[in-house]
Amino acid sequence: MANVFKGRSLSVIDDFSIEERKYLFSRVKELKDAVKNGNQKTVDSFRINDPDFGMYEVFLENSTRTKESFRNAALFHHAKLTEMSSSTASFSKGESYADTFNTLTGYSNRIFIIRSKIEGVCTYLQNACGAFATRNDLISPIFINAGDGKHEHPTQELLDEYTFLEDNNFNTDSIHLAMVGDLFHGRTVHSKADGLKLFNKVKIDLIAPHELAMPENYLFKMKDNGFEIRQFSSIEEYLKQNDIATKWYFTRLQLERMGEKILKMQDELRKSITFRKEFMYKLPENTKFYHPLPRHKEHPVIPTFLDETPLNAWERQSINGMYCRIILLGLVAGKIGDEFIPGKAEDKKEQLNEDYITEVFTRNNSKDRKYSEGVNPIKDGLVIDHICKGETPEAIRAHMRLICRVMDLDKFKGGEWVSTSGNSEKYKGIIFRPGLFTFDRKTLKRLAAVAPGCTLNVIQNGKVLHKYRASLPPRIYNFDDLMCKNENCISNSAQSENVPAMFVRTEEGNYDCAYCGKTHTFKEIWK
Ligand code: CP
Repeated sequence: MANVFKGRSLSVIDDFSIEERKYLFSRVKELKDAVKNGNQKTVDSFRINDPDFGMYEVFLENSTRTKESFRNAALFHHAKLTEMSSSTASFSKGESYADTFNTLTGYSNRIFIIRSKIEGVCTYLQNACGAFATRNDLISPIFINAGDGKHEHPTQELLDEYTFLEDNNFNTDSIHLAMVGDLFHGRTVHSKADGLKLFNKVKIDLIAPHELAMPENYLFKMKDNGFEIRQFSSIEEYLKQNDIATKWYFTRLQLERMGEKILKMQDELRKSITFRKEFMYKLPENTKFYHPLPRHKEHPVIPTFLDETPLNAWERQSINGMYCRIILLGLVAGKIGDEFIPGKAEDKKEQLNEDYITEVFTRNNSKDRKYSEGVNPIKDGLVIDHICKGETPEAIRAHMRLICRVMDLDKFKGGEWVSTSGNSEKYKGIIFRPGLFTFDRKTLKRLAAVAPGCTLNVIQNGKVLHKYRASLPPRIYNFDDLMCKNENCISNSAQSENVPAMFVRTEEGNYDCAYCGKTHTFKEIWK
């Protein structure tokens, strides 16, 4: 059986399944125990031990823990470690990410560890540099996301989960976690929306003032994942009730990612998420505090007087970072993990192949429905019916304008109107275009993505020849007029990286950007 970890990238925590992460944690424990017990033979068995195995650190934002723990992990492996100096790199001459990392791929580098303000970089580079490697007969490189903007920090998530497990006797039945701090800008808390699926039962208490609240897309994700969620605006408010978590995950104010308006409020905001001495008596027995660190030296949300107390789990958490990263590098390099046998994977392919245009009836069972072209019934033409059913006439009209643009229908004669359907009082939109039309699969996909729930009627000789019903395609990409609305996303035009947008449908019927994860309605994905 092939090593399932070898060659894998880690862009978001969900790139590794729960059982893969459990296996990774079992190896972390084995290594940590071996180091503690001085069992050198076991420690050495984890090493890649190849001075030609190239690892490259590219940190375009500051870092101590992630960068230095990866550096020490690479040295543990006796691998070739290089660091790119971001201040002197050709980024400043306007070079793209793809050209930069293609160049470095050509210099025998196998693993890239990237921290960037731009979100979704590793997902994109995995494809772009994979294609470069194929063109040049090289091995496809591996990308590890060391934190991308306010999106995710999957390797921090690994060490956080490992530390929670240590404090849970490695039991994954349940977790009750309070997350306190800047939940809006903090990427480590966003990785928890999928990361905590590790536990069978998850209860999350989110403690943050409104300005720093968890973004909606992560809240949706947590709810979809079956987590029980409660929200509080301050530690003070949280402690007024009695169901208090024994694990608290603090994050600092992410000042570097805040806009001017929120920055001005920082003192007030910090107060509601900073722990104070007078809160101590409310904490349940065996409570532990965690923090991805760094702490702010003037305004730490976990004050330093707590360092010497049993609440302190953040120091061990930070130490675990190096062990988790050693194991991660060993797994993706294919040095360890041969004996891991994955369970039955979900069949995602079936879902992706699902049909989004279904024929409702054809000429053989055609009903004698007459659609009108103004005052005359349509002889030949198309009618897109049931648009935005149930919405207001204003919203329906606005959306019909978008449909006409996306489907390139403005150049034909015809019209749009708002009507009610049958006996229903609900409004719906109807677009008609007289003439002879044919649609290829790609055009039908555009229609399904811009007007889900509509029917497309193809009329010939006054009869409905074909009637199709559209539903949202599971993925939408390969169209020039799609755009992720997150300006920090690698695929947004503000980044000038020429990365085509790509979206994946969510359980709620929205679209998540395939790079940065931002949730859009189907109306919002178009330029
Ligand atoms: N936790 C964390 O990512 O720390 P650094 O920014 O120091 O890497």
